[in-house]
Order: sequence, then structure tokens, then C-alpha cells
Amino acid sequence: MGQAVSTEGAQDKAKEVAFFDCFAAAEDYDVLLPKAKADIISAFVRLSGLKPGARVLDVGCGSGTFTGLLAERGYRTIGLDISPKLIVLARQKFPDTTFVEGDAENMPFEAGQFDGVLLSGLAHHFPNPQRVAADVRRVLKPGGRFFAFDPNRMNPFMWLYRDPTSPFYSRVGVTENERPVLAWRLAGVFRREGFCVRSDYLAGLGYRYVASQRTRGFLPIYNLIDRVVFTLPFMKPLRPFVLTSGFKS
Ligand SMILES: C[S@@+](CC[C@H](N)C(=O)[O-])C[C@H]1O[C@@H](n2cnc3c(N)ncnc32)[C@H](O)[C@@H]1O
Repeated sequence: MGQAVSTEGAQDKAKEVAFFDCFAAAEDYDVLLPKAKADIISAFVRLSGLKPGARVLDVGCGSGTFTGLLAERGYRTIGLDISPKLIVLARQKFPDTTFVEGDAENMPFEAGQFDGVLLSGLAHHFPNPQRVAADVRRVLKPGGRFFAFDPNRMNPFMWLYRDPTSPFYSRVGVTENERPVLAWRLAGVFRREGFCVRSDYLAGLGYRYVASQRTRGFLPIYNLIDRVVFTLPFMKPLRPFVLTSGFKS
């Protein structure tokens, strides 16, 4: 808690903005199947324990997909994203919700504002998310909850296709900043900021879109294997998504 923050492995923000602004210009950013998104929101509700009416910040909200789903569950939501063009898209899609342009490492909010923070597919966009964890702690009320979902480096598909150390790594549709996470390492980042943390895993989510056209043809096979193989109990640590959650003690 309150430790000096290393700048090692800093996120290249210009590349992040350029990538997602470009995405927004071409199409909406909404890559998961509806059931996958519903499963993630259900996990948020279960693991955060937050009740409808709680004030929740969706960090890395993109075009507002999860901000909107949280609002449907009765949370008072605000979305934050670094991509100006995705924020414009989010405001068009959800005119009744507040969306703010800003950086997760230096959020434009007063301390102690939120009951909950959702890091929606965001933490893996930072080579080192320590400063994000510190700012999440700052904006949360005492006892406030956070919840993050990210691709799991222990999942063979995520590693083969999305980890820069894999011989089959594809740069298509990802920024240079991102890589799948190791559950214990991400949990450690939040523990160092004084959070009580737990890690969980999700399978059977299903993608509706990947940027590479060649890979897109394999999506039904990937979705099937994910649903049949990685939902088996002994496969738990190898499931495609890591859920990291905790509270500010
Ligand atoms: C994988 S996308 C997830 C988008 C959305 N949550 C969803 O699931 O559809 C990651 C998002 O994080 C945003 N992002 C990346 N770095 C950020 C930063 N430093 N501060 C705020 N948002 C950031 C990107 O612009 C992008 O919208």
C-alpha cells in the first residue's frame, strides 16, 4: 500500500488511443456473444456483492457495452475510456449514461466516489497495471469492491494466439500493450495496494468476433471446445478468462 510506483513496462497510451479510435471509426467494439456478457455481469454481481443502486465505475468501457448492462441491473453507472471516439460512440448508444474520457492511471474523479469499479477487459492492456490498481483504490469508498476480467495466459488458445512469447502470436486486432494475464500475478498487483483479493476463472463465454478474418472462421470450433472442455471442473485454472475481484480493506 502506498508504495513507490515503478514506471517499468509503462503503457504506450498513444498506441492504445490510435488503435481504439480507429476501431470506433470502422465499427462498434463489441466482441463477445450476448450470453458471454451476461455471464460476466452475473459474476460481477456475485463476486462484488454490490446491490442495485450502488455507484459503479466501468473503466475501459469502450463503446459502453458493460456500462449499459450494469445499468440494466440497477447500478448507477459511469463509463471511463481513453479513446475519445469510443466515448462518442458510447454516448450515442446510451444517451442516459455518463461517459468520461480519461486515463485509468490518473482518473478524473475525486477520491472515495464509488462503491464499485469494473475493469472491463482493461488490466491486460497494461504491461504493469500497478498504477491502475492504486487509482482504483483511490476512487473507491472504504470497503468498496473491484472486479476485473482478462484473458488467461494459462489457457492454451489465449497463450498460442495472444501471447507475444508464442510462436503463433498474432498482432491482428490487438495493441502492443496487451497480453494475457497470470491470475496470481494480477492478484498480487491489487494485494500490494492493500486490497483483499481472490481469483476465479470463467469458461464457455464465446466470442462473436476476432479481428483476423482467417481466425474468424475457427471461432465456432474455439467456442465449442471452450464450452465442452474448459467448463470441466479440473480445467478450472486453464479457463480462458481470469476474474480478479476484491475489496478495499
Ligand atoms: C478490450 S477493450 C474493452 C472494451 C469494453 N469494456 C468491452 O468489453 O467491450 C479495452 C478498452 O480499454 C481502453 N483503455 C486502454 N487503456 C486505457 C487507459 N489507460 N485508460 C482508460 N481506458 C483505457 C481501450 O480504449 C478499450 O476501450
